[in-house]
Amino acid sequence: MWYFTAPQVVFGEDALSKLAELSGKSAFIVTDKIINGLGLIDKVKEHLAQAGMHCQVFDEVEPDPSLQTVKKGIALMQQYKPDWVVAVGGGSVMDAAKAMRVEYERPDIKADEINPFITDLGLGKKCKIACVPTTSGTGAEVTFAVVLTDTADQRKLSLINREIVPDIAIVDPVCAASMPPGITSNTGMDALTHAVEGFTCNWKNDFTDGLCLKAIQLVFQYLPKAVKDGKDMEAREKMANAATIAGIGFVNSLAALAHAMGHSLGGVFHTPHGRAVGLFLPYTIEFMGDAREEQWADIVRFLGIDIPKGKKASAVLAQAIRGLAKEINEPTSLKELGIPQDKLNAAMPKLMDNVQADGSLIVSARVPNEEETVKLFNYAYEGKSIDF
Ligand SMILES: [Fe+2]
Repeated sequence: MWYFTAPQVVFGEDALSKLAELSGKSAFIVTDKIINGLGLIDKVKEHLAQAGMHCQVFDEVEPDPSLQTVKKGIALMQQYKPDWVVAVGGGSVMDAAKAMRVEYERPDIKADEINPFITDLGLGKKCKIACVPTTSGTGAEVTFAVVLTDTADQRKLSLINREIVPDIAIVDPVCAASMPPGITSNTGMDALTHAVEGFTCNWKNDFTDGLCLKAIQLVFQYLPKAVKDGKDMEAREKMANAATIAGIGFVNSLAALAHAMGHSLGGVFHTPHGRAVGLFLPYTIEFMGDAREEQWADIVRFLGIDIPKGKKASAVLAQAIRGLAKEINEPTSLKELGIPQDKLNAAMPKLMDNVQADGSLIVSARVPNEEETVKLFNYAYEGKSIDF
């Protein structure tokens, strides 16, 4: 028995005005200080006012949101008693908001205790949640996973439960139009990595394959345009759609080795998530190689790229992804990323342990042992294609 879970998705031009159609008396807007300074929150408030709702804004979500920030938001919600949580931001904001909403509705379940085995959460009776992404990559607007950091214990919390999926994802390209090129490119690589891993991990399935393939095609076609010209609204819209489609795809299958390596690198060197996973993606495709050759060929064919005689589809796809990364100024090796060799060597035991302990590894079509994990990092440092 398997499940496919997704929220209602409102997308395209003017999708934000969907907020004016929500029913309720009050909304708790969760965002961060940067977005709160951009004017988008004023528009959100206007739409909510048209819906007859009053609002309270909580703009204290930081990158890699902490459990402590989530607790602060929950305390404010308990006083304000909103009918809606409206998350406006990137993955950090949306993840924090999803966790706040759970504990606000179910005070008996603490935010850090969310896990896949709790059933009948009964969410949505007291409060619903709408997510408005302002980046195009994480897919957090449609996923039922949350990553928080417990700063007291210095530990990352990966919380997952299908019932915490948002009620509505509002995917309006205008909301993501103010991303600078560097954020557009690295979050776009996150969307690509979700789609490729969702299409090729061990839990891939008939319901997610089509979504992942379409998202891969959209990223290849529109990410370079969105990075080069942030005002190209067609490219912004297609990338916003790609990220959400990839999000629904991968959360209903799973991410794999590139995410395990990316999480590991980010934990040590604080590399932006999308940049890290996107950098490792071609190396992991080469490493999987024959284990997924049919799927690599499907992707390459769908992208309209020829596979030269005698060449493997995995090598062709890895090369195409490195070409895309170069076109949008994303690094293709750890050396290019600026990590000094001695720092990499010093961190290697930790990097290797992190990968081996990462949940994304279990669904990887080929799982590296400890020695292979170290080799993967070393090849990625040099920018060398995988040959083992
Ligand atoms: Fe990701």
